[in-house]
Order: sequence, then C-alpha cells, then structure tokens
Amino acid sequence: MCGIVGYIGEKEKRDFLLGGLKELEYRGYDSAGIAVLKEGEISSFKATGKLSNLVSKTEDFSSEGFGIGIGHTRWATHGKPTEANAHPHWGQFSYVIHNGIIENYKEIKEQFLPHIPFLSQTDTEVIVHLFEYFVNESTSGFEAFEKTVAHLHGAYAILLITQKEPDVIFFAKNAVPLILGRNNTGEIFFGSSDAPLIGFAKEVSYLEDGQYGFAKANVVSLFENKIAQNLHYKPLTHDKLFAQKDGYRYFMEKEIYEQSSVVTETLMGRIKGNEVVLDELAGMDVTGFNAIKICACGTSYHAGLAASYLFERLSKVRCSVEIASEFRYKEPLLDPKTLFIVISQSGETADTLEALKMAQKSGMPTLAICNVDNSSIVRTADATLLTRAGIEKGVASTKAFATQMMTLWLLSLYVGHHRNAIGTEKMNEEMKALLHIPLVLKVDEAIHEKLHRLSKRYLHGHGFFFIGRDIFFPLALEGALKLKEISYLHAEGYPAGEMKHGPIALADSELFTIALMPRTLLYDKIKSNVQELSARDSTLLVISPEPFELSDDFIQTHAHTHPMAEFFEMMVITQLLALEISIRLGNDVDMPRNLAKSVTVE
Ligand code: G6P
Repeated sequence: MCGIVGYIGEKEKRDFLLGGLKELEYRGYDSAGIAVLKEGEISSFKATGKLSNLVSKTEDFSSEGFGIGIGHTRWATHGKPTEANAHPHWGQFSYVIHNGIIENYKEIKEQFLPHIPFLSQTDTEVIVHLFEYFVNESTSGFEAFEKTVAHLHGAYAILLITQKEPDVIFFAKNAVPLILGRNNTGEIFFGSSDAPLIGFAKEVSYLEDGQYGFAKANVVSLFENKIAQNLHYKPLTHDKLFAQKDGYRYFMEKEIYEQSSVVTETLMGRIKGNEVVLDELAGMDVTGFNAIKICACGTSYHAGLAASYLFERLSKVRCSVEIASEFRYKEPLLDPKTLFIVISQSGETADTLEALKMAQKSGMPTLAICNVDNSSIVRTADATLLTRAGIEKGVASTKAFATQMMTLWLLSLYVGHHRNAIGTEKMNEEMKALLHIPLVLKVDEAIHEKLHRLSKRYLHGHGFFFIGRDIFFPLALEGALKLKEISYLHAEGYPAGEMKHGPIALADSELFTIALMPRTLLYDKIKSNVQELSARDSTLLVISPEPFELSDDFIQTHAHTHPMAEFFEMMVITQLLALEISIRLGNDVDMPRNLAKSVTVE
C-alpha cells in the first residue's frame, strides 16, 4: 500500500513530488524518498517517519528546469521501516520506486545477482540491479526494462529512471494501481491514484495489469506482452478528497471494496506449492509450545476469537483468547510453554502492549499480528507477522480485520503443518480455499444494492442481535460492533445456541435478528435457533446460501463449500449493512462520534 508519484517537465520537481506524496499519505507511510534526474545528475533523498521529515531534509534542494523525478511513500512489507529500506533504491546508475511485492525476489537474486551487494532488506532492490544487469546485454534502456519486467512475479507499480537515458521514466503495472497523466504543455505525471495529479494533469490514463512502457516529454509508449498498445485518456476530476476515496462515498466503503486486493497482498510470497511459508517465523520453534493464548482489543479481539477455532481445529493446539484490558489485572497464570499472540491493527493499543510486556516478563514466546511495522507492539514482540492491509482511514475497521483473519488462518496452517497435525489431503483443501478468498471478497454489486434498499427497514426498533455458531459467533460479534460503531444503534453479537438462555426474552417484532446461517457448519442447529426467534416474532434478516421460509428479509450468499469462504462473504455483507444503515441515518461513517482509531491510553 505504498504511494508513488513521477514527473517529467520543467516544474520545480521537489515541490510536485512532495506535494503528490502528501496526497498519497493516506495510503500509508513509514518512510519516504524522492530522486530527481536533471542534466544527467541524480539527486536523491530519503527519510523515515512522516513526510515532513523528508520535506525538512530537502529544504535547500531546488530542481527547476527540464528534468524527471520519482517519489515514494512506503508502508513496510519486507524489511523494517529504516532509511536503507526506504525507496528509491539504486544501482550504479539507476533508481527505482515500487509499490507491491515481488514474490520471486530471492530467486532473482540467486539466479542473476549472486555477487551484487544489497543495501536494503527489500524485495524492491532486485528490480534496479536486474535492470542494470540486462542493460549490459541490451541495445536500449527499454529493452533492458522489458526483460526485467518479464522476470518479475507478483504485484507491482514501478517507476525507474536511469542516467543512461536521462529524460525517460520507465514504468510497469501489475495488480496495483498506476495512473499516467498529461496536459497540453508536454508534461507527464504518474501517481498511485488521481489525487496527486489534480491541478496538474488535464487527463489521465488508468494503466491495465501487465502493461509497461516508457515516457518522455510529450511521448508515451505503452506495451503489453511486447505488443504496442493505445493509451486511453479520460478527463481528470477536480475533487481531491473524492479522488483519494477512489470515487467511493466514504473511506470505509472504499476499504470494504479493497479487501479483495489487500488479502492478495497478505498472501503474497507466503504460499509455495501446497505449503505455507512464513519467513518471519524462521527463528521460532512452533512445535515447542503446548498452548496458544491470544490477547487483543476491539475488532482485533474478534479476529483472535475466530482464530481460536482455527488453532484448535487445524493446528490441534489448545487456544484461549482474552480481552487485553481484562487480562492485565486478573493476575493471570502464565506458562512459558504457551505461545502468546497479540493482535493489533495499529500496534499502539496501550492495553495490548502492556499485556504483551507482561507475557514477555513471564518468559512466554511472543508473536504480534500487526499492520504497522516498527510500531511499539512490533518492536516489543519476539516475532511479527505483518498483515499488509495498508493504512485504514475509516475508524471502523474492515480491511484490517480481513487481513488479520487471513494471516491467522495462514498461521494456523503453518503451525498445524509443523506439528504434523494436518494431513496432505486436508492441507490441499485448505490451500484451495485460501487462494479462493480474494475472489470471495470481491463485492457483489447486486447484494450491495439490496442491502442499500433493505437498510431503510432497520433504522429503528429496540435493538439488533447478530447471531451465529462456531466461527460465525465471533463474526456475529464483529458484525454487531460495526453496526454499533457507526450507526449508534444498540447491537449485540451472540452465540445462536445461547439465545434461549436469556436474550430471547427480548424478542418481539421490534427486535432485529441478523442470522448468519452458513451451509457448511451446523446449518440445522442454527436453523432451530432461528426458528425459536421467529416463533417469538423477532424480525429476521437471514444471510445464507439456503433460502429460509421464515425470514422477513433474505440475503442469499454463494454456495461455497468451505466455511471460511462463507465467513468472508458474510463478513462483507455485515460490513455493508452497517455502512448503509449509518449513511441513511446521516452519520459520519468515517469518523464516528466518541471513537478513536488508535487507543494509546488505558
Ligand atoms: C480502537 C478502534 C477499533 C480497534 C481497537 C483495537 O477501539 O476504534 O477499531 O479494533 O481500537 O485496536 P488495534 O489497533 O489494537 O487493533
């Protein structure tokens, strides 16, 4: 989820690049850098932390007159957020910036670049060295770039500049966005989204996956599979905030729609054949502990609760889950033979951090599942798995939860495999299901539209119960939390089988029950629970692949064969339901009252 910008023209390049990066900061930042090539000379600057650090560092640098420049804000996925790992990365005469993940960077290093000293721990640096390697055996920079791109596997938006051809920017795009802009003065612009180009470019072209090419003043050449392509330009919007939201009404909506692509990033490089590969855990003996304890807050706690089903079922390890603020003061008995996992989107939640420190003091091995590298939690834990969701702007967490769930599922398979708890056949099944999730997460526009229409029925009443069984119980908790957070309506998540032990007393037509009824897990059991509620007149919204005659409203999901596919599809539906209800109520979806994105106090 890094952001990239590029420029060809007469303007002050520093100002355009830094201004553009400012517009992309919403995509994530832990470091930033620029490189400008003018009259054959390259100047490059990098700084960790906020963009303002790079602004201060470049204060005395000026770059007016014709030249080219590239800029990058980084969200760490491979290697710590240090200056060495910040982009641009350089070789002997070329500089590159990249958003995405090069999955085969290790193979490229071994095959082509065994003697090159690498300055960073990133996957990106191979691109610039591979390019320079091919320059020696090519007749043009473009030929070398084309060969380079042909060897890359994974997701990338790349801009590369070289002193060998000082007026050219080479570019390539696959699976992550790259936009090219132009105006009638011959200037060329690049960006990860429209936002940095507004006010500069008159029209833009949204590049397609697999496209690459080169740009000079006034000239852009585009290719796909070595065949020249036409560029299709569209006029550019004038609304920056609208552009940052990629046309969605709210960041939360955009983040729900982004889930398919961010979980693809979560998976990248972590599956080889039918094996889960987690390089980050190389130093951790996952066979050496007897149990797992998970600790977290809010949505992350729900991810932990859902994961406990996976750890017991797939890894065959006992697993308990605790809310961090409760855990801290209960004088817990901590066993150094238990793996302590903390889950945190921000990496800064005070209660989770303190719980982690307590576990560490007691000698437990610790692991963080986190979205922000170099955050306090990541720095404290023995090991970290980054979830790679990119920055999340909506206060109500959506894509962070989706990536936490994917990471935890991967981890449960990894642990299960290393402890010989999963047979080959089961593993194959899980892998197939795992790889299918990005598709499952693609929002079905018809379902979204139906939820939009349905939402007007669910604005009043005296409360909501989200109910589910098994792993769909934590999902019910999360669905209720989403609704509470942004609609300010009272909602509870409950295990469906537990309703008759108390809450059913609340049932009447003003009580809304949202029933998660997957076909792959305990369908008949939950069906009886829902029938009991219907008999007491509760208004029922059923989410299921199986039509249910007693429902007042029905959202039909796909007939998946794996519970996790049903889990992720229903997750999206509950998120969209909360979103649509909140919009109808006229609330500020992205910044709900009384809530904060990162809670650094107790
Ligand atoms: C806050 C946020 C929630 C989040 C919780 C835990 O309450 O509003 O969305 O789930 O903190 O945050 P963490 O960063 O540790 O996941």
